[in-house]
Amino acid sequence: MADGTRAEVMERLTKAGERGVLRFITCGSVDDGKSTLIGRLLFDSKLLFEDQIKVLERDSKTHGTAGDDIDFALLLDGLEAEREQGITIDVAYRFFNTEKRKFITADTPGHEQYTRNMATGASTADLAIILVDARKGMLPQTKRHTYIASMMNIRHVVLAVNKMDLVEHSRSRFHEIVSEYLKIAEGLGFNSITPVPISARYGDNIFQRSEAMSWHDGPTLMEHLEAVDTLAEDEANFPFRMPVQWVNRPNLDFRGFAGTIAAGSVKPGDDVLVAHSGKPAQVKRIVTADRDLEEASAGQAVTLVLDREVDIARGDMLVDPQARPEVSSQFAAEILWMAEEEMLPGRSYLLKAGGQVTPASVTTLKHKLNINTFEKEPGKSLKLNEIGVCTLSSSKPIAFDSYKDQRETGSFILIDRFTNQTVAAGMIEFSLRRASNVHTHAMDVNKERRSDLKSQKPGILWFTGLSGAGKSTVANLVERKLAEAGRHTYSLDGDNVRHGLNRDLGFTDADRVENIRRIGEVARLMVDAGLIVTCSFISPFRSERQMVRDLVEDGEFIEVFVDAPLEVCMERDPKGLYKKAQAGEIKNFTGFDSPYEAPESPELHIKTAEMSAEAAAEEVIEQLIAHGLIG
Ligand code: ADX
Repeated sequence: MADGTRAEVMERLTKAGERGVLRFITCGSVDDGKSTLIGRLLFDSKLLFEDQIKVLERDSKTHGTAGDDIDFALLLDGLEAEREQGITIDVAYRFFNTEKRKFITADTPGHEQYTRNMATGASTADLAIILVDARKGMLPQTKRHTYIASMMNIRHVVLAVNKMDLVEHSRSRFHEIVSEYLKIAEGLGFNSITPVPISARYGDNIFQRSEAMSWHDGPTLMEHLEAVDTLAEDEANFPFRMPVQWVNRPNLDFRGFAGTIAAGSVKPGDDVLVAHSGKPAQVKRIVTADRDLEEASAGQAVTLVLDREVDIARGDMLVDPQARPEVSSQFAAEILWMAEEEMLPGRSYLLKAGGQVTPASVTTLKHKLNINTFEKEPGKSLKLNEIGVCTLSSSKPIAFDSYKDQRETGSFILIDRFTNQTVAAGMIEFSLRRASNVHTHAMDVNKERRSDLKSQKPGILWFTGLSGAGKSTVANLVERKLAEAGRHTYSLDGDNVRHGLNRDLGFTDADRVENIRRIGEVARLMVDAGLIVTCSFISPFRSERQMVRDLVEDGEFIEVFVDAPLEVCMERDPKGLYKKAQAGEIKNFTGFDSPYEAPESPELHIKTAEMSAEAAAEEVIEQLIAHGLIG
């Protein structure tokens, strides 16, 4: 398979199983006896890991084109390579079966900070086993895991109260824990909540009924796992949705759209629509590796051939014309923050929903959710493991359903643009109407016209560096030279911005993000006006500098790293602020108790401790010539 990270392979792999396969996740910490339980399940099912892989391989082969793409050798290679590189495995998938059913279990490390992994495992699961130590009872993480399970739209929960042998197999202790658990879990929309008292260590109520707990009249864990019915669920009854994973065009006569059906079903002759463009078509054939199908439904990987030529790209969605998804760039969502670094409104992340990928940011955090009480709490940002309801805005419109209706097309993740880490999982609640009513007005006089009149190419010269590094000094000289050469310029810096437009902002991380976001938007308007704009801001974070870069066209953003060692800046101390910072009179001072992320590949790197401001300005002018902004 050509594209795809291991996570994507995993995702496809775990989705490709036949519909009778039960995908489940076990939640709890090592101390709760999770590994013992998994060991017990695998041991008693008496199947080797390798065998189980092969079983699944054959299954996936029966699932048509997209399923064929799953390459187990590659998967195993991938795991091996990761081990060699010392990368820890986030989610371990295990495949096993009993006489009655096949299972895929996703196992994730139980430490608090690994919520991310649990969410990854949970995103493809039908059922969650929530493990509780009978001695300890409910813990905050029990609630968190239950909440995440609900958030990831897992519909079945098993409350496995473990270590019953250590509480003398007490029926009353079991019931006490169960009733406490039901209090929190009942409002979370599960289809079934099944409590089972177990002792993983001795195998009680796992495969075999426990003699010591003959009072238990419910099923054993395995009886329940084998019997639980996940087939007749909402996906198949929901209107048709198929995100297009790729366009299949082996030759000029064949053009098909490959993907896994996320919801509903489809037959040849059905009308479909392209979600983004609204263009209609009819399904001509449903193609799989070995034969054409009469019908295909949620969970199946197929290639659809349509009756006419329509524009469809990877990331688009084929949908039921009678029940179209929302297509919007502004929406409300609940997100679970999974990164060490806090979520900052205004910062640009990559949003991934199905095959759709677009830059997006959180515009406002409406409230946080207290995981213990499930109550709303005010807040400005989200820290690791916190849950919040917020509004998001994406650069490109995405097609989606409300998560409550359809988890496959209503969920998304946010990815850090620099580390490529998944920082959040989210569920879309609804689209914000105003987005669809605010349209960009196409103007007769445009950027080209305006810059032609000025006989120049517009652009942003972005000076970044520590306070006292010389940003404003160099920018000032550059602007003077440009003006002397008859160029139309404008200069933005702390003085004219922090006293006006941004006078409501301070120096917390969140405020700095917002500071640069607004400045970026202003600079973009100035580029649109045909100007060469110099911007001098510490702009300590890579993310926001990248965000401004993305606002304008290629070649219109020139990043100049004005670099001087902290000691030199402190010695210069033009505004006496370093002294104050040292004396503890100013908090969050960049270079002291607030970070500066140096540019990794700026267009220009000037070291002001080693050259005059005049020489630095000359270098900037040379860059402008090299980039064709000035002749
Ligand atoms: S940025 O980090 O948000 O890009 P910006 O460039 O607008 O900062 O403002 C930095 C200027 O504000 C500094 O040159 C300094 O004069 C002043 N300042 C006041 N407090 C701080 C602080 N805590 N950290 C950095 N600069 C500060």
